[in-house]
Amino acid sequence: MAIKKVGIIGGGLMGSGIAQVTAQAGYDVLLNEVNQELLDKGMARVTGAWDMLTGKGKITAEQAAGYRGHIRGTLDLAEFADCDLIIEAIIENLDHKRDLFAKLEGIAKRDALLASNTSSLPIIEMAAVTTRQDRVIGLHFFNPVPLMKLVEVIRSIATSDQTIEELRQFAISVGKTPIIAKDTAGFVVNFLLIPYMLAAIRMYENGIATKEDIDTGMKLGCGYPMGPFELLDYVGLDTTLYAAEAIYKEYPDPAYAPPTLLRRMVQAGRYGKKNGKGFYVGADDN
Ligand code: 3HC
Repeated sequence: MAIKKVGIIGGGLMGSGIAQVTAQAGYDVLLNEVNQELLDKGMARVTGAWDMLTGKGKITAEQAAGYRGHIRGTLDLAEFADCDLIIEAIIENLDHKRDLFAKLEGIAKRDALLASNTSSLPIIEMAAVTTRQDRVIGLHFFNPVPLMKLVEVIRSIATSDQTIEELRQFAISVGKTPIIAKDTAGFVVNFLLIPYMLAAIRMYENGIATKEDIDTGMKLGCGYPMGPFELLDYVGLDTTLYAAEAIYKEYPDPAYAPPTLLRRMVQAGRYGKKNGKGFYVGADDN
């Protein structure tokens, strides 16, 4: 099946980034949010990126206008009825995602592909509420979506080979490099990245080094673009906690157990860059 129209649910950092690269690749994109304020914010993030790129001379005004013509916002999920591919990028909560997939089952056309941008939740649990388990797949982008080249294509035990191939080709068409992974918590990247970030928090909790020195160590010692605390603020402390909990649930190994400090910071409402409170942003006494 040729993918032409793509529905994206969730206009947050991930959803708007996915919408941007998908519209730029020439697909017709529908972006959905739960209320007008969030929809306006998501659309502004996408069009703001094109304004920024035009201002820097990286794209022409005509290109920006062309991209804009490929995206539209909607509050009405029923408009997704003729989408060939629907990608959800909503909150990392399995109940919410299962409710959404059940709703999509009644809206999406029979042969539409349903994808989740989850970072660590089981794809099969979302597929199980539909009658098209073979057409349900994980499509995990990385933050910031327009700049990070990777997409993990996640095969559940029910995903068909054809679906994998269609989504692999889709990822390439939006300028990404796909890797295929099984439907196990954390897939490839977060299974390696999350315990690294948790270990950095434990190191800091235990007074082995300051967060600044840990970050400098990893940037200058290993060539990472960001240290673990900068990355925690960037990715989101809440997102990291949810991913760690999901992986720990499946692999109850101490390496995946969320450290107390991470829990406390999330309980205190410190989510990182997204709300201006984290290890560095708006930091006081952590
Ligand atoms: N579209 C297109 N281009 C954009 C853009 C957009 N929306 N936003 C910014 N750019 C361009 C800028 O114009 C700039 O171009 P220029 O250099 O030619 O002027 C360029 O991108 C770089 O912008 P920045 O100066 O902001 O970028 P930095 O050089 O500081 O790099 C970074 C920023 C790419 C975020 C880098 O620090 C990095 O790679 N950090 C690590 C990120 C990472 O590890 N992400 C993965 C997190 S894990 C995850 O997402 C999984 C999840 O499940 C938890």
